[in-house]
Amino acid sequence: MSTFQAPKGTYDLTPPRSATFLAVREAISAPLRDSGYGYIETPGFENVELFARGVGESTDIVTKEMYTLTTKGGDQLALRPEGTASVLRAALEANLHKAGNLPVKLWYSGSYYRYERPQAGRYRHFSQVGAEAIGTEDPALDAELIILADQAYRSLGLRQFRILLNSLGDKECRPVYREALQSFLRDLDLDEETRRRIEINPLRVLDDKRADVQKQLTDAPKLRDYLCDACKAYHEEVRALLTAAGVAFEDDEKLVRGLDYYTRTTFEFVHDGLGSQSAVGGGGRYDGLSEMIGGPELPSVGWALGVDRTVLALEAEGVELDLPATTSVYAVPLGEEARRVLFGVVTELRRAGIAADFAFGGRGLKGAMKSANRSGARYTLVAGERDFAEGVVQLKDMESGEQSAVPLAEAAAELAKRLG
Ligand code: HAM
Repeated sequence: MSTFQAPKGTYDLTPPRSATFLAVREAISAPLRDSGYGYIETPGFENVELFARGVGESTDIVTKEMYTLTTKGGDQLALRPEGTASVLRAALEANLHKAGNLPVKLWYSGSYYRYERPQAGRYRHFSQVGAEAIGTEDPALDAELIILADQAYRSLGLRQFRILLNSLGDKECRPVYREALQSFLRDLDLDEETRRRIEINPLRVLDDKRADVQKQLTDAPKLRDYLCDACKAYHEEVRALLTAAGVAFEDDEKLVRGLDYYTRTTFEFVHDGLGSQSAVGGGGRYDGLSEMIGGPELPSVGWALGVDRTVLALEAEGVELDLPATTSVYAVPLGEEARRVLFGVVTELRRAGIAADFAFGGRGLKGAMKSANRSGARYTLVAGERDFAEGVVQLKDMESGEQSAVPLAEAAAELAKRLG
């Protein structure tokens, strides 16, 4: 292993690709910020207990994928594998739900950690932008979140994504279905591990990717047939609101999701250019989570979109984001005096709000002009002894190639004028 290699299942974001990640985070969060969601940031780790109770003792995330550690003080912590439990914990701790303004609408952006088998699109450290709307049961809220994610992806230029939608029922009807499913599954020819899964998390068995298992599941009882009237009506309303908004979705009865806290609405955004790790985002309603972690009854809904996979989806579709050059002016000094003077001009430009950079390190004209080109700057300022003797600097328009002498004292003002 080379000394400079990032840990297995992780990678670094470096320029220029890193700019795309920033743009994706911005594009996903913009519709949220415009819709009443406030920014929340929570620690990168929590007490293990929070995820064990919240995400669920029977999930892969909790049993296999958490990075846990014991502190010197004896606390059991886990690097956060997801954001929902943390955000709800933080909202409860800050009593946001008691401010009389429900739902509490929050958005977040950050790093998450899962000890998964790395493969294309699946990493041990990844990045999400998420949204949670806490404390309100209203199908319009579920619809709002799905519409905003759709809007975010469209604003990025993504087209080849699909929305899968399902209802998992509530605490009335799901247990009845669960039991019916369990008694069906117990009669099948399955391996030991899957048999164990029947007892702790039977719905996950429906998600099994193996063909021989899927074949046996053809006649499995369907959750749809067990939904209570309230859940059915709720789900119909979400569907109607999405349809009215012109957001296309596919009903997917098999959509179970890998976290235990979901009730009623669940959904996933999948992208067809990504191979097996095709879920670019997912979410749903979690009406029981607050009580599961010791809080009051707070029906809530949310989603998280994976930034890494969204970038891969952009690449798969060949979408080039229109990222404006970060530098507008690049200064190239020739000689000691020029270095001092032009550095002053660059500082002045920056203070005036113009993005400027400078050829550091006393390099020759050729190398410095190469850097100027690479920076994407619209203008370069070049100056040497002879220019200063005449009180001017050379201002070059990098698009037209045109170059003209500008009085040194007016250089900043002239650039400000040209750059509008
Ligand atoms: P999740 O489906 O586990 O949901 O993750 C959401 C998204 O994070 C996935 O669709 C995927 O894009 C990305 N993601 C997950 N694991 C990895 C990985 N190992 N490598 C790369 N990307 C990954 C949640 O996390 C829920 N907290 C969403 C939610 C919010 N539900 C309600 N509110």
